[in-house]
Amino acid sequence: MKTPTTAFPLNAWYAAAYDVEVRHALLPRTICNQKVVLFRRTDGQVAVLEDACWHRLMPLSLGRLEGDELVCGYHGLVYNSQGRCTHMPSQETLNPSACVRNFPAVEKHRFVWIWPGDPAKADPALIPDMHWNDDPAWAGDGKMIRVNCDYRLVVDNLMDLTHETFVHGSSIGNREVAEAPFVATHGDRSATVTRWMENIDAPPFWGGQIRHARGYTGKVDRWQIIRFEGPCTVNIDVGVAEAGSGAVPKDGNPGDRGKGATATCSTPSRPRPTRPASTSGPSRATTASASSASRTSCARAWPASSAKTSWCSRRSKKPWTTTPTTSSTTSTSTPARCGRAG
Ligand code: FES
Ligand SMILES: [Fe+2]
Repeated sequence: MKTPTTAFPLNAWYAAAYDVEVRHALLPRTICNQKVVLFRRTDGQVAVLEDACWHRLMPLSLGRLEGDELVCGYHGLVYNSQGRCTHMPSQETLNPSACVRNFPAVEKHRFVWIWPGDPAKADPALIPDMHWNDDPAWAGDGKMIRVNCDYRLVVDNLMDLTHETFVHGSSIGNREVAEAPFVATHGDRSATVTRWMENIDAPPFWGGQIRHARGYTGKVDRWQIIRFEGPCTVNIDVGVAEAGSGAVPKDGNPGDRGKGATATCSTPSRPRPTRPASTSGPSRATTASASSASRTSCARAWPASSAKTSWCSRRSKKPWTTTPTTSSTTSTSTPARCGRAG
């Protein structure tokens, strides 16, 4: 028995695909256990339909496109991009009930977001802010990775970065991450964890980044600002700056993190569980987009994945020269040019 679709927060936007994944072809995806098929119409708009034919529930993703219409591969019923049947090969009249559900879809921040809940509540203003992905001041990229766990464990992993000390000790982890105090704040739909580590030795990855970006090899002030937005999106602002250079917020001064090496990791998870609802153990996740150093290492720690991950870093005059390793399912980007981070 699989987890019912209703077990998920349905009145929310989910990143179903990267924009470049959606072409004039049929792309099946599962969002909150709802099977859907995406395609790009000839006018460039994205259509999202339920992936089950009205007639005998054949997956429509196994059919074909004819212009902007989708032809079922079983008995040839034709649907327009709104899901309305426009042709039944064996009869002259159309059954007026012959339609499949269509889903609100919006392209933003290089993702195609779909709303699996009540269409009347699908407000594009509620799409999580992931502007780093298409902001010209940032360079970034990513792709979907599959994670064999409940999507909430992906959120847990990203919100609690103390594991970096122990899991990522050769790259982004050091003792201070686990020991430094943090501040947690909450909004209506969000939670933010902020951790500052002042006047420390940079861990290997970040030491390399600030050395290449600024020629600096001394102590650093390091930050992690992790923002969750319900139901399953996390943005992580991470980086290091020269110690004492004014990056740290103090005495009402917000600080200036612009003089360091920085990145933002954006991860919109996508629930895709397959385990029974009665178990609390791992099921399937996710869609994530990310842009930062810690992200790739996280992906490497998981055996398999279903998430989107892109990495964005602020453009700088000097390119990052580190070329971190990645799993085959993760991609990254760096300030002046794209590259892998980990
Ligand atoms: S199942 Fe689609 S036309 Fe019959
Ligand atoms: Fe990690």
